[in-house]
Amino acid sequence: MDFNLSEEHLMIREAARDFAKQELLPGVVERDNKQEFPKEQVRKMGQLGFMGMMVDPKYGGGGMDTLSYAIVVEELSKIDASSSVIVSVNNSLVCYGIEKYGNEEQKQKYLTKLATGEALGAFCLSEPEAGSDATSQKTTAIDKGDHYILNGTKNWITNGGSADYYLVIAQTDKEKGHRGINAFIVEKTWDGFEIGPKEDKLGIRGSDTHTLNFNDVKVPKENRIGEDGFGFKFAMKTLSGGRIGIAAQALGIAGGAFEMARDYSKIRKSFGTEICNHQAIAFKLADMHLEIEAARYLVYKSAWDKDNGNNYDTSSAMAKLKASKVAMEVSVEAVQIHGGNGFVKEYHVERMMRDAKITQIYEGTSEIQKIVISRSLLKD
Ligand code: CAA
Repeated sequence: MDFNLSEEHLMIREAARDFAKQELLPGVVERDNKQEFPKEQVRKMGQLGFMGMMVDPKYGGGGMDTLSYAIVVEELSKIDASSSVIVSVNNSLVCYGIEKYGNEEQKQKYLTKLATGEALGAFCLSEPEAGSDATSQKTTAIDKGDHYILNGTKNWITNGGSADYYLVIAQTDKEKGHRGINAFIVEKTWDGFEIGPKEDKLGIRGSDTHTLNFNDVKVPKENRIGEDGFGFKFAMKTLSGGRIGIAAQALGIAGGAFEMARDYSKIRKSFGTEICNHQAIAFKLADMHLEIEAARYLVYKSAWDKDNGNNYDTSSAMAKLKASKVAMEVSVEAVQIHGGNGFVKEYHVERMMRDAKITQIYEGTSEIQKIVISRSLLKD
């Protein structure tokens, strides 16, 4: 067992760290305040190869492994979790979904643009009444021969207003339950596709979350992914990889908050000494570091599982469950260590605390991860 990162992994970590400091840090507080999408930063991340990291170079991707991707998401999240979720959704839900399960025409037409950052993707599963209970899709796609007619509403869609291509999960045959669900690639410009209101969110305010409405949208049959009825399994398989991304995001938020708190404790004085010299603070830092390290092993292990052809449904659920809990706890402690300054926007940790919460909710709540884990323990 080798716990060392390879030279390539160290280099990619350095590149992501530099980019986050130079390009994401300036303006991160302002973007959070104004709920401003980091358009220019996303363009630059496309140029750097961060938008299609794991995609085969023949489709314009970086041909890297999942661990490299997790490391990049972790580093970006230390500074700006709004930007990292844009990267995460595009890489591990949209690009991965099309590369793994799409056909050659779909890859040529859509993946090549998504992987280079020329186009942005969104993943549309959640609905007003189908969040955790993903089989209860109300959005319908009615088979009309050479095309489907799509109707319905999707909620809380990351990149909802800014994407060009949308992976949309819809019910094609209610009688068949989860086997009557399909996934489609939908283009933003198609008639009947309407981008609804932008959500005013607690955290990750720089990312662009919308309701989407589909009113008689004509979707060509060649835009269905996989065999008829494959949509639910497509969503589940794709989400397992997505959960590695969100786990890495949570890990980065925790790491960023920890670094801020540690550095602050070395300069802030109380009772005649730097506060890190008080055990009340030093022990907090020790606990925070311990939890981050524990989460990191789960996140990297799950990425390693995926890279080595192992089943990663359970390990990604475990990584997400643990890392998101750690992100929440560590960011709360980071605010506490900052005292009154922690409550002020310019010190960043209050934003990290707000950003951390979503990692326990999206791509499956913590309770959903426990369902996935416990089922794997209890199956015959
Ligand atoms: N891989 C392959 N197949 C899978 C699977 C997986 N990981 N998980 C389930 N399946 C299959 C099952 O084998 C079963 O198929 P068969 O009947 O052929 O055996 C079928 O799918 C149905 O499975 P279940 O009976 O287990 O389904 P369920 O209704 O009990 O739900 C669940 C399981 C784990 C709770 C699932 O619904 C789930 O993960 N829900 C959460 C959904 C979610 O994460 N939503 C987030 C939205 S996306 C998002 O947030 C993106 C964003 O913008 C950031």
